[in-house]
Amino acid sequence: MKKMNIGLIGAGFMAKAHSVAYAGMPMFFWPAPAIPVKKMIVDINEETAKDSAAKLAFESYSTDWHKIVEDPDIDVVDICTPNNVHAEIAIAAANAGKHILCEKPLALTTLQAKEMYLAAKENNVTTMVAFNYRRTPAVQLAKKYIKEGAIGRILDFRGTYLQDWSADPDSPLSWRFQKDVCGTGALGDIGTHVVDMLRFLVGEFDSVNARTATYIPERPVQSGLADSLGNSKGDSSIPKEPVDVDDQCCFMVQCKNGAFGTIEATRNAWGRNNFITFEIHGTEGSLFFNYERRDELQVCFAKDGDDRRGFRTVYTGPAHPYGNALWPIPALGIGYTETKIIETYDFFQAIAEGRQPEPNFRDGYAIELISDAVIESAKTHQWTTVKEIEE
Ligand SMILES: NC(=O)c1ccc[n+]([C@@H]2O[C@H](COP(=O)([O-])OP(=O)(O)OC[C@H]3O[C@@H](n4cnc5c(N)ncnc54)[C@H](O)[C@@H]3O)[C@@H](O)[C@H]2O)c1
Repeated sequence: MKKMNIGLIGAGFMAKAHSVAYAGMPMFFWPAPAIPVKKMIVDINEETAKDSAAKLAFESYSTDWHKIVEDPDIDVVDICTPNNVHAEIAIAAANAGKHILCEKPLALTTLQAKEMYLAAKENNVTTMVAFNYRRTPAVQLAKKYIKEGAIGRILDFRGTYLQDWSADPDSPLSWRFQKDVCGTGALGDIGTHVVDMLRFLVGEFDSVNARTATYIPERPVQSGLADSLGNSKGDSSIPKEPVDVDDQCCFMVQCKNGAFGTIEATRNAWGRNNFITFEIHGTEGSLFFNYERRDELQVCFAKDGDDRRGFRTVYTGPAHPYGNALWPIPALGIGYTETKIIETYDFFQAIAEGRQPEPNFRDGYAIELISDAVIESAKTHQWTTVKEIEE
């Protein structure tokens, strides 16, 4: 069976998720499109790089990402760094002919996203942006129902991504609060996952009307680049520096196909952990999904008799998307790991077939254009049209 050599850059939270997925993918999807071989891991922090190579089972490590991009034996470059270095690495990797899996959001700016997309296109490499939540089987089932017309024409929708890990004003000023490293705050970090899901389920966005806010304008400085995602306790004795991105964003969406909706994202909603939800209303029924109960899709079909109409729960299992590869009965439990394993499978399958999977760099660029429109609209308080992709 064909082997594909992986070079992974940025050995933090996502490196762990991707490494588990590389190991697990062939165990679920057999015969696998290729066997991933964990060749080299890179982190600018040498101790992190060395430790991660041992823990995540990479053959070698380095502190310089050029070692991966320049290595002729590497087939796939996996970018798990903070957002400010995605573009530089991805463009070099595309020019070196490597296939690229890049964490979301695609880039720091729309211009970078465009350059990444064009470099990948020019070099004919396969790309994927790691919006893994759309790969939850219940989300794929929602897509199947929509495609089959089970809820008719979509009228409206609402999407949320609510967390509380940064609600403590003394939680550290990690890279996720610094515009020059992350680009945007709640919008890019978590809002883009919901944008990806709703763009996938409902259709292209035409225009947005947005409001953003920064509730906690300064936070204690943290040492080092790695992000504790609220796991280190707030310390008010540490000097503070400004936050220059949004803590919260909320926007209305007009889709090109006429559907209308709202999207909300915040990391300051006490009591919410990973509350990714959507509710979609169509002329023939409705769908509701909550990632915190990710085995379940709530469905209501208008054609059900008056005496039994209402939301009911479908537990995803073998009869549903990716079901045959996963677990033998419904409701055994789909996890974050499974979404990353499915993502890895779809990426390698696309490489094997010489095509682009979704979401690819073009989709990542489209989502950056939507983020731009949200930021612009929040400034002008006007409906703002999402700019077209420049091919
Ligand atoms: N898909 C998801 O569910 C999801 C979840 C969290 C984060 N992310 C995305 O993944 C990316 C990484 O986030 P994370 O949570 O793993 O961050 P992290 O802070 O846990 O880890 C990032 C690592 O990158 C290293 N790094 C920074 N600059 C580097 C460089 N130039 N070269 C090599 N290494 C470098 C840091 O030292 C750190 O170890 C971000 O783009 C983020 O938005 C995606």
